[in-house]
Amino acid sequence: MAEEHKNPQAAASKPSAAVKPKPPAAKGAPKSPAAKTGASGKAKPVPAKSAPPQKGVYKPAEVRAELNPFKDSKTSVVGNWFQERFSLLNPIFEYLGKKEVPQHRLSYWYYFGGLTLFFFSIQVITGLLLLIYYRPTEAEAFARFVYIQTEIPYGWLIRQVHAWSANLMVLMAFIHMFSTFFMKSYRKPRELMWVTGFVLLVLTLGFGFTGYLLPWNELAYFATQIGTEVPKVAPGGDFIVKLLRGSEEVGAETLTRMFAMHVVLLPGLVLLFLTAHLMLVQILGTSSPIGYKEAGLIKGYEKFFPDFIAKDGIAWLLGFGLLIYLAVVFPWEIGVKADPLSAAPDGIKPEWYFWAQFQLLKDFKFEGGELLAIIIFTIGAIVWILVPFIDRKASREERSPLFTMFGILVLAFMIVFTFRVYLEYGW
Ligand code: HEM
Repeated sequence: MAEEHKNPQAAASKPSAAVKPKPPAAKGAPKSPAAKTGASGKAKPVPAKSAPPQKGVYKPAEVRAELNPFKDSKTSVVGNWFQERFSLLNPIFEYLGKKEVPQHRLSYWYYFGGLTLFFFSIQVITGLLLLIYYRPTEAEAFARFVYIQTEIPYGWLIRQVHAWSANLMVLMAFIHMFSTFFMKSYRKPRELMWVTGFVLLVLTLGFGFTGYLLPWNELAYFATQIGTEVPKVAPGGDFIVKLLRGSEEVGAETLTRMFAMHVVLLPGLVLLFLTAHLMLVQILGTSSPIGYKEAGLIKGYEKFFPDFIAKDGIAWLLGFGLLIYLAVVFPWEIGVKADPLSAAPDGIKPEWYFWAQFQLLKDFKFEGGELLAIIIFTIGAIVWILVPFIDRKASREERSPLFTMFGILVLAFMIVFTFRVYLEYGW
């Protein structure tokens, strides 16, 4: 004990099971900054009275007692134990505790971002489980899928959940994107939420594209053959095709590349952009549609923690129920092993979320048509990602019906063209 009094650092770093009452501060003595930040009166900081004057800029955390309002908190409480150690993050937690979500008649659209996140988490967990048994080689990939599906206990369930959750994640991301578009949530200062979100959608579609080939079945093989051919007509397209395939044709090299992208490159990029997206969600808060505040259409505000997040949890439970139902009642087939030497079977088409682009390419089958379709799509995507910067009216909190019209046209194009593929090919 005597040792601790001699060495204030040692004393400070030792969790204090018994907090000694501090002598009252002398009248007129300057207040310690920690006294201002004291955590709801639970824990009182110790002024670093006897700490020797420090040279330089950096001071170890235990010396900066005044920054740590949880310094002498009762360490038997797990939360406090962590708060004491991560004390510099306390302002962030305090900020999150204050975050509120506006309540109005369109509030339910706010659940779709969380649902996208939920299905992404399912993808990470089930993907890791599949990774234990999968092997990305031409000889083994298909057999491994059959093995997972038929031999591994609950392997069928994990595979089906992974396949269905991928589709639901894409669907939720689309719903989330269009709902934020029509509510003009992208307007100032949320431009980067829109941009990072759009990148996340492209990465999500990338997951779908690269994952499709992994079972190495006939359908996936020929769909990838067609899909990777698309850039060929564009300038420099040959290079992109080769980069994607790893050789002239879809083969063993392509499978390894798709696998590397699916399990390393894309997850890494998603993590990066998702962190930015979710940080912005927390920093900037949730927007409300233009004019709602002025028109008195906001019924109130609810706390993000714990009210909104609890409702998010209910949406996740419903999503989970739907996922398990689909996985059990409508299992995806494994098909037959890919044979690169055989002719492509009839009716080869990509996954449903590429159907609109697929149909457009089919419609543009005239001389130079495919290139024109690619140009239309590229320009469309650039305009779409730049919408927050072009829609100046929305950023001035004014209604922008022209952009609403643009969104309706894009949505109508996607639904009609997707449906046309369905009518021709079926599900
Ligand atoms: C992996 C995909 C994505 C995930 C996990 C995700 C997640 C989220 C979450 C959890 C929120 C907060 C709750 C909400 O408002 O729904 C949010 C908000 C938002 N997201 Fe996403 N998002 C994704 C993709 C997108 C896409 C594709 C866009 C648009 C291109 C987008 C644009 C936005 C915007 C503008 C907001 C702010 C909404 C507001 O403040 O009203 N996100 N996102």
